[in-house]
Amino acid sequence: MMATAFFGYTLPWGQMSFWGATVITNLFSAIPGVGDSIVTWLWGGFTVGDQTLNRFHSLHHLLPFVIVAVVGLHLVALHRFGSNNPTGVDTKDVGDTIPFHPYYTVKDLFGLAVLFLFFSWFLFYEPNALLNPDNYIRANPAVTPAHIVPEWYLLPYYAILRAIPNKLAGVTAMLTSILVLFALPWLDTSPVRSGRFRPMFKVFYWLLVADCVLLTYAGGEPPEGTWLIMSRIGAVYYFVHFFLVLPLVARIERPRPLPTSISQAVLPATGSG
Ligand code: HEM
Repeated sequence: MMATAFFGYTLPWGQMSFWGATVITNLFSAIPGVGDSIVTWLWGGFTVGDQTLNRFHSLHHLLPFVIVAVVGLHLVALHRFGSNNPTGVDTKDVGDTIPFHPYYTVKDLFGLAVLFLFFSWFLFYEPNALLNPDNYIRANPAVTPAHIVPEWYLLPYYAILRAIPNKLAGVTAMLTSILVLFALPWLDTSPVRSGRFRPMFKVFYWLLVADCVLLTYAGGEPPEGTWLIMSRIGAVYYFVHFFLVLPLVARIERPRPLPTSISQAVLPATGSG
């Protein structure tokens, strides 16, 4: 998904497209020994150019099909193991379940309507709010923009990348910050699956949200002075959260008592249901 979005962003071929492509492909040059050769190979030349744009265009169309395939795998897994729910307690009998239609169809349509409203507001009233004005200037290899920043949803990772002065260490930290999400089941070993019954986890969860907001903001600012210090604090806390806080909280926290079943948690104790 992130790669697709990156390849898409290069396609308008404005200044941010060109220089974004240059910065991101250059990350591979941090690989010791073969880095520079890999970058030339990715570019298909000695700079980002027509060949690069051409292959990025193909990849931008190809990768969404890979995403669709992964969505398919996700559905297979869902059918096999069932879905989680806000209580984190497994279903025990039919009393714990409701039919998909009309309950989920209506709930999802409502969610979709809210999303479309939000989306339409940007589309019709603020189409430029999340765009970078530099991308309205045609790609020009001779002029480097003063501040090269990616789209807003990539900013936290960009902040982590720039928080470290050493290129290889910065790239490694950025990759780790994404890959660590795949290791969550092994890092958070709490037997309780829902944050609702985990008072300590809840506090740290909101701290992580605040940390990501900070990193998003810092990632969009020039990497100097206060913002550089903020990026560094934010980056350190990000890793502390995943590698230290989660395993420790899982070990020392005393979760609140779990409901015996989903229906017990959601139906009124005295009700007839
Ligand atoms: C998960 C799926 C996708 C994501 C996240 C995505 C993301 C993006 C992004 C961020 C841009 C840059 C827009 C801009 O700044 O102007 C873009 C442009 C573009 N995308 Fe996609 N895209 C996706 C799927 C597709 C597919 C399936 C196609 C075609 C089959 C496609 C074709 C294009 C084209 C032609 C452009 C250039 C047009 C323009 O810049 O306005 N995209 N995409």
